[in-house]
Amino acid sequence: MDIKVPRGTQDILPSDSGKWQIVEELIRETCSLFQYKEIRTPIFEHTELFTRSVGDTTDIVQKEMYTFQDRGDRSLTLRPEGTASTVRAYVEHKMFGYADQPVKLYYMGPMFRYERQQAGRYRQFVQFGIEAIGSADPAIDAEVISLAMSVYQKAGLKNLKLVINSLGDTESRVAHKEALVNHFEPHIKEFCTDCQNRLQKNPLRILDCKVDRNNPLMASAPSLADFLNDESATYFEKVKEYLTILNIPFVVDPNLVRGLDYYNHTAFEIMSTAEGLGAITTLAGGGRYNGLVEELGGPESPGIGFAMSIERLLLALEAEDNNWATLSMLDVYVISMGEAAKKKAVELTNVFRQNNITSEMDYLDRKIKTQMKSADRMKAKFVLIIGDDELEKESVMLKNLSNGEQQLIPLNKLVEQVKNSITAWVEEEK
Ligand code: HAM
Repeated sequence: MDIKVPRGTQDILPSDSGKWQIVEELIRETCSLFQYKEIRTPIFEHTELFTRSVGDTTDIVQKEMYTFQDRGDRSLTLRPEGTASTVRAYVEHKMFGYADQPVKLYYMGPMFRYERQQAGRYRQFVQFGIEAIGSADPAIDAEVISLAMSVYQKAGLKNLKLVINSLGDTESRVAHKEALVNHFEPHIKEFCTDCQNRLQKNPLRILDCKVDRNNPLMASAPSLADFLNDESATYFEKVKEYLTILNIPFVVDPNLVRGLDYYNHTAFEIMSTAEGLGAITTLAGGGRYNGLVEELGGPESPGIGFAMSIERLLLALEAEDNNWATLSMLDVYVISMGEAAKKKAVELTNVFRQNNITSEMDYLDRKIKTQMKSADRMKAKFVLIIGDDELEKESVMLKNLSNGEQQLIPLNKLVEQVKNSITAWVEEEK
C-alpha cells in the first residue's frame, strides 16, 4: 500500500505538536486578555454563504473551494475562511441583540482552499481569527490590529511589518470603480480572461491579478486613495491616530487590496521581513466589513476582524531561528535499576503526576546509561535516580541536567523538594 497524505495537507508529528500547543495556548490567553470569546462553527456550510460573502468573482470562490453535493443534493462547501461562518452565526443566533456590543469572537480551526501547494500555502491550514461585530469605532480597528501584533510579539517574532490601507465606503468605491473601468476598458483585451470578466463585475480585483501583475496599466491605475470621500478619509486618519497611541508602527500602502469582496474602510496585512522565509511573507490579513451582516440577513452591524494561519506563524518563527519551543516540558525522568527500584519508580512517577509534576520512566528495562540518554533526549529538567542504596536510606537522588548538581532527598519530603527545585530551575533558565 502506498497511500500518502493528500497534496497540500500535512501530519503534525509529536516532535512538532508541542509547538502548536504552545502557540494555541498563547492565542487563547491573548484573546482572554482582550476579551474575545471563542465561537466554534461547522467545518462545512451551504455553498451560498461563501458566494454571497467572500464574493463570486474572487479566486477563493471561483477556483479554490472544496464544494460537493451531499446525499440530500445540497451544495455544501468546506469552509475556506472563518468570517462568513462567524457572521452567519451572529445573525442566526441574533447576537446583535446581546446587551454588550460589539460582540467580540475568535475561532481557531482548519480551513480548506484548493490552492497550488508551496511553502506557507496549504490546502488544509489552521486559521486563528477574530471578529468584532457591532461597532464602527476606529478604536476597535486599532484593537483588532493590536491583538494580532500581540500574538506575534508574544510568540517571539521581531521582524514584523504592518501594512494598512483604506478601501473607503460604498460611495468612494463606486467613484473609484468607474475610474478603473475607464482606465482598463480600452486595453482589456491585453488581459487574462479572468480580468476581462472582472472588468464590469469587480474591477478592483484586476489589481490583485497574479497573471497580469506586470502590465504597465496596473501601476498607472487610479488609486482608491484619490477617491476617498471626506468621511472615509477622516475614518482612516482616526485609525492611524489610534495605532500611534498604541505604539504600533505601520506603513500605508494604497495598493493593498484584499482577496475577499466584503471589505471596506480599513484593510491590513502583517508581513514577516525575516530572511529565508520564501515567497510567502504575509502572515495575517484582515479588515472592516460594514454591510456583511446585512448581506447575510441581519440588521446594520459593522464589523472588523483578521485571520492568521498557525502554519505561517511557525514558519516565520523558524526563519527567525527562534528556539522558544525547545524549552523543557518534562520535569522529572525517573531512572531505576532492578525489581525493587522499578516498583518504586512506578509509584513515584504516579505521585509526581498526581502533584502536577510532569514525569516519565523507562518501560523497556534498559540500562541506567540508556535511560539517562532518554532523559537527555526528552530534555528533562531533572532525573530522579532510584538505586538499592538510596532505597535503604528511604531517599532518592535528584540530578539537575542543566548544571549536573545532585541532591539526596528523603522520600517523605519528595514532592515539596522536587517542586522547589523545579521553581529554582525555571528561575535559573530565565
Ligand atoms: P485571508 O487573507 O484570505 O483572509 O487569509 C488570512 C490568513 O490566513 C493569511 O494571511 C494566511 O495567514 C492564512 N492563509 C490563507 N490561505 C492560506 C493557505 N492556503 N495556507 C496557509 N495559510 C493560509 C481571510 O481569510 C479573512 N477571513 C480574514 C478576516 C477575518 N477578515 C476579517 N475578518
